[in-house]
Amino acid sequence: MSDAIESILKETRVFEPPSAESVGAPRWLLGSMDEYRAMHRRSLEDPEGFWGEIARELHWFEPFDKVVEFNPPDAQWFLNGKTNICYNCADRQVESGHGDQPAIVWEAEPVGDGGPETRTLTYRDLQTQTARFANALKSLDVKKGDVVTIYMGMVPELAIACLACARIGAVHSVIFGGFSSQAIVDRVIDAKSKVIITCDGGWRRGTIVPLKENVDNACATLGEQGHAVDHVVVLERCENETSRHSRDRDWHEITQAASEDCPCESMDSEDMLFLLYTSGSTGKPKGIKHTTGGYMVHTYLTSKYVFNLVPDSDQIYWCTADVGWVTGHSYIIYGILPNRVPTVMYEGAPNHPGPDRFWDIVERHKVTQFYTAPTAIRAFMKWGEEHPGKHDLTSLQVLGTVGEPINPEAWMWYRKHIGRDKCPIVDTWWQTETGGHMLTPLPGVTPTKPGSCTLPFFGVDAAILDDQGNELPHGSGGLLGIRGPWPGMLRGIYGDRDRFIDTYWSRFSANDPRYPNPTSPSPYYLAGDGAKRDADGYFWIMGRIDDVINVSGHRLGTAEVESALVSHESVVEAAVVGMPHEIKGTGVAAFCTLDPDFNPDGHDAIESLKSTLRAHVGTEIGAIAKPDQIRFTDSLPKTRSGKIMRRLLRSIAAGEADVHQDTTTLEDYSVLAKLRESEEG
Ligand code: WTA
Repeated sequence: MSDAIESILKETRVFEPPSAESVGAPRWLLGSMDEYRAMHRRSLEDPEGFWGEIARELHWFEPFDKVVEFNPPDAQWFLNGKTNICYNCADRQVESGHGDQPAIVWEAEPVGDGGPETRTLTYRDLQTQTARFANALKSLDVKKGDVVTIYMGMVPELAIACLACARIGAVHSVIFGGFSSQAIVDRVIDAKSKVIITCDGGWRRGTIVPLKENVDNACATLGEQGHAVDHVVVLERCENETSRHSRDRDWHEITQAASEDCPCESMDSEDMLFLLYTSGSTGKPKGIKHTTGGYMVHTYLTSKYVFNLVPDSDQIYWCTADVGWVTGHSYIIYGILPNRVPTVMYEGAPNHPGPDRFWDIVERHKVTQFYTAPTAIRAFMKWGEEHPGKHDLTSLQVLGTVGEPINPEAWMWYRKHIGRDKCPIVDTWWQTETGGHMLTPLPGVTPTKPGSCTLPFFGVDAAILDDQGNELPHGSGGLLGIRGPWPGMLRGIYGDRDRFIDTYWSRFSANDPRYPNPTSPSPYYLAGDGAKRDADGYFWIMGRIDDVINVSGHRLGTAEVESALVSHESVVEAAVVGMPHEIKGTGVAAFCTLDPDFNPDGHDAIESLKSTLRAHVGTEIGAIAKPDQIRFTDSLPKTRSGKIMRRLLRSIAAGEADVHQDTTTLEDYSVLAKLRESEEG
């Protein structure tokens, strides 16, 4: 951690915000840093007033009678208010006379002679299509509170499926289309879900991802484990032949048979909206629980101010994330649609058919807000500046990044080659658990520094804490903690109260004299990230402090990858750590000890076992988890108390520790381990 602090301290560049005129923005919603500070202060001192006013900009069937109640770790927002987030995304825009405006602008991956297929859905289309599909779900006996699993490609029907669930009060659990059938099995069981919505396939870099086949395989395993899936709704997308089962329902058939009259269910503000599974430091993914009102208000307000959304001003917003991640939930669908600025959904890969595909999309659709991940930016850098250079990107007003720390070099490249040295960059720090942005610059107002996510958003009280939970002064690094509740915060881990408290709230409470009841959770939410605040109070995220690694902006629990490895017959024990990776930021390095029966003999056998194991992890979790580096060892280096020496493994993986690299035999770390142990005492 001290290295990270050092390298960050060297960054001294500051970029003052540009004028709205110079980037072609209609106006900046905030006028000055003083205005930001005043609003931020009020949001903390008077949350009732601040959030109450914002919430009332949206539609409620019945008003809330209290804004917030917090008994750590449990918060409730907009108590007793009744609303519906689908209503606020679609129906409200139609009711106010904007039904014909574009809501979703979709572009397919395949590029034919006439260019790629595109589809625009107006708010009215969105309203009628979600209503129809919602009725179709009802015809499958889906009821309020039921969990519906969604495993689809990036097609408009994915947004429709989510919104349709919200419309009738069903809870959606979206699983990223890049995950394997085993990932579906685990999540369907945990969520007790009986209905899965999928596609025959999804387009990705010119090939078809076998989504339906993965669901079929998952259903077979689920069946063996006594969990029956009642219905699998299949949307035909790729004319991909798949096997048919009696549980299959055709999307178009059931939708055409359904009426478009389906009023939005009146949902309590604290009714569950969705579950989204994310990695933790143990093997089992956590179902992060989000509810309706607070999440809606938080994503609405952050979308508005962080991206500077101004309706009726020809803005076109594009977030390149997949809806399978929280970024897609919050900043393709739920936060953007209530702001009445069209949201672009792109189906495929950034380099199909060529490495300029994103810039081609920006140019053709005249995208004004562009939100992507550092890993993508590093890939663009590698592919070369000539690709954005071929396109007119002058429509862009605001650039955003999310998912992992952005290195200053990538930040500068983004600013120069995409943002023509002008567009403000909003580096947004947040998590699946926070629901929406927490630390972020506001465009046109916040001076930015390459690599810093700058300052807290309204309502966010963030601090750097030491190991005992004391707040540290500016200039020091430590644990990133959030004091008090915020509207979009998670309401728990589905079905696991203890894990919720242990993971986020318990680090300081035990035996701490400041907390009268030593078993009561501390008032700090702990994000699991290390961070530093500089002399100006700016936050710099240094990365995860637990056994979670952030690969291409996607969280992976090292324990998950380890358990995938040991589920292969050849592996007895595995340890997985992160290692520096040029494009992904962090790569996956795996150290395995083998069953003697499987000991590979010679270089070729070793390489072939490595590819078998990589493929195995791909099947168990998904391609993103495939190790970049696998090493076989006689025994894993452990301390006397039996703990795996992860720090040593990290430096071996990073090429820092001196190990003899004979690729024809197993590696032996025992000497190194003994050495380290004597150094570390
Ligand atoms: C990391 C993604 C640095 C961080 C929205 C966090 C970031 C984890 C940033 C959450 C950022 C996200 N700068 N690190 N701007 N944004 N992270 O749940 O480690 O997929 O804890 O949510 O990503 O990942 P998640």
